[in-house]
Amino acid sequence: MRPTISIVPLVFSAAVTSSSFSLFSNDQKTLVDDSLSVPGENPLNFCADPADYILTIDHVDLDPNPPEKGKGLTIKAKGNFTEEVEKGAYIGLSVKYGLITLVNTKADLCDQMQEVDEECPLSGVKDFTKEVSLPKEIPGGKYTVLADVYTKDEKKITCLNAIAHF
Ligand SMILES: *[C@@H]1O[C@H](CO)[C@@H](O)[C@H](O)[C@H]1NC(C)=O
Repeated sequence: MRPTISIVPLVFSAAVTSSSFSLFSNDQKTLVDDSLSVPGENPLNFCADPADYILTIDHVDLDPNPPEKGKGLTIKAKGNFTEEVEKGAYIGLSVKYGLITLVNTKADLCDQMQEVDEECPLSGVKDFTKEVSLPKEIPGGKYTVLADVYTKDEKKITCLNAIAHF
């Protein structure tokens, strides 16, 4: 399995590795405008109309969906970078547990890409599969995740959010 990349696995990996917590479940999706749902089997929503985003997401499929703690998680995703994304792009990632901020960080997108054998500049269609494992020690409760991804010139690549209950 060739580890190529899209933004979403990075967000997953970054969130999982930087916090040892994991994130997503389907419970709250019905509370959100359906037109903002990310295509595929996942609990993700776009923050706003994705027509304005550089990354067009074809699908993101999670197995199992929603993810379960103490189990593996397979992420399959495909998307199109409709403009070239150069070095300097970044991910603004925040993870809250209830009202408590666990993670609030800025990660270099291109650095993250190298960990999965992709390099900037990024353009065109990217397809990937990634396996992660979710620690069984994840404390029960409500998690809110926001990943806001920008080019170095502050153009929006994508913005995703999710609410999870473990
Ligand atoms: C990807 O985006 C480019 C730029 O908008 C477009 O020309 C191309 O057709 C797209 N590819 C696919 C498979 O949608």
